[in-house]
Amino acid sequence: MKSSIEKLFDLTGKVAIVTGGTMGIGKGVALRLAEAGASVVLVDLVDHSDAAPILREITALGRKAHYIQADLSDSKNLVPIIDQTVDAFGDLHILVNNAGIFSYCPVTEMTEELWDRTQAINLKAVAFLSQAAVNTMIAKKHGGKIINISSVDSIKPTGNLAHYDASKGGLSMLTRAFAKEVGQYGIHVNDIAPGGVTTPGVAKMAGDKLTAAQKEAMKTQMDQFIQRLPLQRMGDPEDIANAVLFLASDASNYMTGSTMVIDGGLLLM
Ligand SMILES: NC(=O)c1ccc[n+]([C@@H]2O[C@H](COP(=O)([O-])OP(=O)(O)OC[C@H]3O[C@@H](n4cnc5c(N)ncnc54)[C@H](O)[C@@H]3O)[C@@H](O)[C@H]2O)c1
Repeated sequence: MKSSIEKLFDLTGKVAIVTGGTMGIGKGVALRLAEAGASVVLVDLVDHSDAAPILREITALGRKAHYIQADLSDSKNLVPIIDQTVDAFGDLHILVNNAGIFSYCPVTEMTEELWDRTQAINLKAVAFLSQAAVNTMIAKKHGGKIINISSVDSIKPTGNLAHYDASKGGLSMLTRAFAKEVGQYGIHVNDIAPGGVTTPGVAKMAGDKLTAAQKEAMKTQMDQFIQRLPLQRMGDPEDIANAVLFLASDASNYMTGSTMVIDGGLLLM
């Protein structure tokens, strides 16, 4: 028999979608939700063979997994993601809007193309995927949990990320706006603002187009940054996944329209 604490975090019978679920934070989230009992639908850009290892990890836990290859920047793909989820698993209870792009660019060099692509994936896709999810949850009459992965950059800009900061600031407000309207249907909408988390995306950003000397300088800067950070380490995807589990579970049943900051103390610096 499950203890009362196990029941609080039990997602058995729940169906969850995780966007950008094949690597980084999304992969950690998908595994944690599966460990808690959920069937998981992953949505990502990569082809099915690249998604296969994480699908196998989920099924090895005894849970169901389904993969949808889709580019979230194309709004035609969004309603079909929800439809395919319901076709595959019969329902939808949890949506984790995790997929996002980030690349350094000073405001003096920011292009319209970079701006538009960043807003399309980080903000517009979340709005319309959440709309389709909410409509399904309302029709099913059982409420749900929507969790958006924003960033500490929605609160305090890092620098050279204005296009990204604007998308994440918008995402935090979108969270609160959705929360206000859909609470009456038992749908909870919250966002998580991570600080620095070690992921393939961050490794790529740090290594992109840099010479060996620049990479060395970047590493020194990073070591100094970690020493100044109150918790003195980068975050792991699991640190964010644990917060997602809390927001997806009954443990957060009186919480909506909030931002959880999981940043090792970065905002205190
Ligand atoms: N890693 C960090 O330090 C950090 C900090 C704050 C916020 N975040 C946010 O967390 C989220 C995940 O970040 P990460 O570091 O794990 O990133 P990552 O680059 O390692 O992984 C992102 C995933 O999203 C997918 N994706 C990107 N564009 C897509 C699209 N158009 N359609 C479908 N899938 C797409 C990628 O294929 C990949 O699987 C992002 O929203 C990011 O902004 C990350």
